[in-house]
Amino acid sequence: MKQIVVAIDGYSSCGKSTIAKALARYAGYTYVDTGAMYRTIALYTLRHQLTEPEDIIAHLDQITVGFILVNGAQHATLNGEDVEDSIRTLEVGNRASQISQIKQVRAFLVAQQQAMGVHKAIVMDGRDIGTVVFPNAELKLFLTASPEVRAQRRYDELVEKGEQPDFQAVLADVNDRDYRDTHRAESPLRQAEDAIVVDNSHLTREEQMDLIYGLFDQTIQQ
Ligand code: DC
Repeated sequence: MKQIVVAIDGYSSCGKSTIAKALARYAGYTYVDTGAMYRTIALYTLRHQLTEPEDIIAHLDQITVGFILVNGAQHATLNGEDVEDSIRTLEVGNRASQISQIKQVRAFLVAQQQAMGVHKAIVMDGRDIGTVVFPNAELKLFLTASPEVRAQRRYDELVEKGEQPDFQAVLADVNDRDYRDTHRAESPLRQAEDAIVVDNSHLTREEQMDLIYGLFDQTIQQ
């Protein structure tokens, strides 16, 4: 069976990582969460109080972003430290959205992402995977859902973590992040011409995964 690259792009809180993880498991492929890589750099800049792009760029050679498996789950690492919990906050998400606008930060991470995919058999999710990182990916999915549905999912996740979010603030945050992700000068989020759009606002998880597994099976048989 041929091995392929699956590129999954889409807005924040669209369920990209859940879908990508499930597909990677189904296919027996490696999963890479590129958002976690931007979040890990964001965490470094918060810890070192770096706000100016030139300072952030000057520190890149001191940052090693990696992944480890903990009880079968992928955790992001920053210079060897497991930072999976620390990177999943609203503050880090917002900083990630800001630092991802810096061209050199993108180039730094894109090179690592491309290296991870040289042997194919990979499912990678992010914002620019089908457009910049793997423009030749055999299967490209572009996920969407309405801002309200995404805000509700994000809200539920935060409540589950013990936080007490305000729904309107979460919705405003989703809208702000969409705006930044789609309007930045460097690799803005956009649908690759050959990407298949999956709007999951009204799909159950099973319906959605059946659709995606079907697309995967079709692609590897072509
Ligand atoms: O998917 P996420 O919410 O974990 O991503 C965090 C931020 O990182 C998001 O606001 C945009 C940025 N990002 C990016 O610019 N390119 C990617 N390939 C992945 C994420």
